[in-house]
Amino acid sequence: MRASLQVVMTRFGPCLTKSVSVLPDDCKNGSARLSGEDHAVKVKPHRKGQPPATVKPFTSIPGPQGLPFIGTLHHYFIKDGIKFDRLFEVQNQRASEYGDIYVEKLAGLRNVIISCPYEYNKVIHNEAKHPKKFMLDPLIYYKHRRGIKQGIITSEGDQWYKQRSLVSKKMLVLSEVAKFADQMGEVADDFVKRLEIIRDSDGEVPNLKTELLAWAMESLGVFLFKERLGCLSESPPPMVASILKHFEDMVLCLQHLMYGLPLYKMYHTKTYKEFERHSDVVFAVVSSFVDKVSTAITWNLYALAKNPRVQEEMCTEIREARGRAGGQLSAHEIVSLPYVKAVVKETMRAFPIIHTTSRFLPVDLELAGYHVPAGAHVQANLYGMYSNVEFFEKPEEFLPERWVKSSHQITNRVVKSIPLLTWGHGPRMCVGRRIAEQEMYLVLSKIVERFKLSYHHEAVGPTLTLVLTPDKPVRIRFTPRN
Ligand code: HEM
Repeated sequence: MRASLQVVMTRFGPCLTKSVSVLPDDCKNGSARLSGEDHAVKVKPHRKGQPPATVKPFTSIPGPQGLPFIGTLHHYFIKDGIKFDRLFEVQNQRASEYGDIYVEKLAGLRNVIISCPYEYNKVIHNEAKHPKKFMLDPLIYYKHRRGIKQGIITSEGDQWYKQRSLVSKKMLVLSEVAKFADQMGEVADDFVKRLEIIRDSDGEVPNLKTELLAWAMESLGVFLFKERLGCLSESPPPMVASILKHFEDMVLCLQHLMYGLPLYKMYHTKTYKEFERHSDVVFAVVSSFVDKVSTAITWNLYALAKNPRVQEEMCTEIREARGRAGGQLSAHEIVSLPYVKAVVKETMRAFPIIHTTSRFLPVDLELAGYHVPAGAHVQANLYGMYSNVEFFEKPEEFLPERWVKSSHQITNRVVKSIPLLTWGHGPRMCVGRRIAEQEMYLVLSKIVERFKLSYHHEAVGPTLTLVLTPDKPVRIRFTPRN
């Protein structure tokens, strides 16, 4: 675990130092010990799912001590208010302090954090038919107030099951999603053409984030509305930039509301009022899916810009496939290229967009040697697992070869499935996964075949705004290939 945390520090450059401001003293000491030479770090080895000889009671699970009612909320209180944007790093540092399992009470919710995939696998294998998960309460409250029907994301039980059964038939069946591959391919072609025009004299795209959001809206629009929205036209509708701004602000408010005390239910706090104002715009047009895809693609492009060797491997695979197809490579052929898929998977691991997944347990379980009762909220520390040297050899390296036939290929079934947790698990797994993957394979392939990507600025790190997003503008240089 010691080595793995050092890896996290190198993966995103200096970003870890920022997290110190939200750490309590005991954790600060913990992280200091990690870099010290002569201190052993307390590590609980994982047992690859083997039941322990004796199961210890829930109350003896280690974790940071909190105050009555608010738990450890005060640990996250800094000069300008309550901040949760480094939550993923705090979780990982606590894991190095307490081991594969620890408990932390944050405001009203007691979380059991698991940092070993073999242990979290027990949660996955004990999913309920109607899984119970941590809900976006402020969003549910907002929809209720506005009289908007609760959708698949904000409903539970039978209501959720009915909606899920309807959309799964369309969205999770590969052959259904593949019907839109050609149109999504055209959107990707248009985006590549647009990149040519909007590059500045350094070959960089000044506002890549907005551009990728426009691409994601256009691409998803093909599936959802079965028509082109015009976001990639020469002068895209100004609503694109405006929605992005509202969306960013909405997410920030939502994050504060979610982890803090639910005071907004008693009186409408300033943050809640702002949240409503931004949500009114965002829900009229776009939901969080578009933003997830554009953020995931940003990380993919960044990973490629930092790894020219991988770009060349990818370009060779695409060009060889094009050669075999007689020069015309169809969207269907692109979406089945193994190395392209491996690049996307490795990006999910090395530059994760999702730092955790969780469930309320439907049954009592033994986890990491402790009894955890039904109803407990159990969270996987994915961010920590992805960079743990126990599971991934040289985790600091961007190595898509882990996921394709090669000498680096991972064969362990549990470790192989860790990046898939980006999409969640079981019956509530992301219903848009197939669509998102198809969109990403298409646009990445087309960009890499047309441009060489490079990066000439300070390293980018993650910050938490519901998903892990780049903490600064990503200024990639796109140089046309000959
Ligand atoms: C890179 C892009 C995306 C990522 C990483 C992602 C990830 C996730 C995750 C982690 C969940 C929660 C799963 C769980 O709790 O087990 C989820 C749920 C969901 N996602 Fe996605 N998602 C992405 C894109 C999309 C897109 C494009 C759509 C729609 C077209 C979509 C629709 C949904 C829906 C409807 C749910 C709720 C499913 C339910 O509760 O039954 N997602 N997504």
